[in-house]
Amino acid sequence: MAKKVWGGTFDEATDRRVEEFTESVSFDRRLYAHDVAGSIAHAQMLAKVGLITPDECRQIEKTLGEICQEIEDGRFAFSIELEDIHMHIERALIERIGDVGRKLHTGRSRNDQVSTDLRLWVREAIDLIDARLVELQRSFVGRCEADADCILPGYTHLQRAQPVLAAHYWLAYCEKYERDRGRLADARRRANVLSLGTAALAGTSLPIDREDVAQRLGFDAVTDNSLDTSSDRDFVVEFVFVLTLIAEHLSTWAEEWILWSTAEFGFLKLPQAFCTGSSIMPQKINPDVLELIRGKTARVVGSLQTLLVLIKGLPLAYNRDLQEDKPPLFDAFDTVKACLELAAPLAAGAQINRQVVAERLDRGFLDATTLMEHLIGRGIPQRTAHELIGQLVARARKQDVSLAQLPLDEFQAVCPELEESVFDVLGVAKAVEAMTSHGSTGPEQVHRQIARWKQHLARNE
Ligand code: ARG
Repeated sequence: MAKKVWGGTFDEATDRRVEEFTESVSFDRRLYAHDVAGSIAHAQMLAKVGLITPDECRQIEKTLGEICQEIEDGRFAFSIELEDIHMHIERALIERIGDVGRKLHTGRSRNDQVSTDLRLWVREAIDLIDARLVELQRSFVGRCEADADCILPGYTHLQRAQPVLAAHYWLAYCEKYERDRGRLADARRRANVLSLGTAALAGTSLPIDREDVAQRLGFDAVTDNSLDTSSDRDFVVEFVFVLTLIAEHLSTWAEEWILWSTAEFGFLKLPQAFCTGSSIMPQKINPDVLELIRGKTARVVGSLQTLLVLIKGLPLAYNRDLQEDKPPLFDAFDTVKACLELAAPLAAGAQINRQVVAERLDRGFLDATTLMEHLIGRGIPQRTAHELIGQLVARARKQDVSLAQLPLDEFQAVCPELEESVFDVLGVAKAVEAMTSHGSTGPEQVHRQIARWKQHLARNE
């Protein structure tokens, strides 16, 4: 049995089964570059305050750089005896520069080290996801001009409700992702705080300079309570929550477009490069990418659930349970990133079957609400107008015609105040045009929003 790596107090070597059970290097090696960056900043600070010499610092920096490159190139040997990525890198350093390497862990613990690495990783991951969200928004905004005159049915309860411009749909998705971007920015603020220097849980008696390390690593501030810092994984949970909400937004969009691409709806033609065939039915073109975007949302929700249950009931401060934070974090990130990377080209490449949509737009009395508002404009109380239009719709249903196809005397039979002007608001095009409130689907409003979005995305260039 191998002697323990940092095991001065032990008489016995670690059981092999324990090594296998407790290792995390199989997944936390992903943090190697962040671990090296954190260690270099730490060493530079140690030199600055005189805990190591400038020459020792240079040796540490140079050797850590070499180790990082070896890991990058796949030339570095990993072994579960060294448990995690932090011990691998430190051990390699010591093997190469001896006692100088043994000074790196001065004023530091793996508890604040792993927290720092993770914060650096999360910060980077947030920026990456944010950029992918902007790409997706570009896809939707990019369609708006071409689809500007296209009207789609709007639904509530998945029943035809009122007509809306296709561009209004595309910008609705953009709004959701914009809120997600706001959440990412907010989560980033709380992640971007330095943990290093809180050591195991109590801080250190050594004259370290935490502000200096924070500055070197681009953190906005240093944490204020070592006990809290040692135990804190809120920033991981928050990021995964935002990832979950992004996945939920992707999933509802995917569901909508899966429906829209069926023969029953027939609204959309999905790009064939993003569809797959069936092994038995030769005619099939299946929306598998959208289905998997919807399906993978389950994994992301599962990751959030894992993290929430993981931290529940942990006493202060660090507990080894926290090592289990990484697999769900990495998986949620990888999954959502992949979904976003496919969603963007898919959203840009789908085509509206304009003719199919247009042919059926006069079904479902999409203009009934606008007609009711026309009555309100003529002084009729809303509840009365609602009742009267309900009667008109019933008449039209009986005759199997649209409201616009009813003759004027039918309108007047129900409501004598009505004149020829009712026809000004009937039909989906007029019903859409009648919309004027801020944020509505009226063409002027939507064009204003398209312009705003274009400006906004240009600023994100
Ligand atoms: N691999 C550990 C983790 O991910 C690093 C910290 C270990 N600290 C300790 N005291 N055992 O949480």
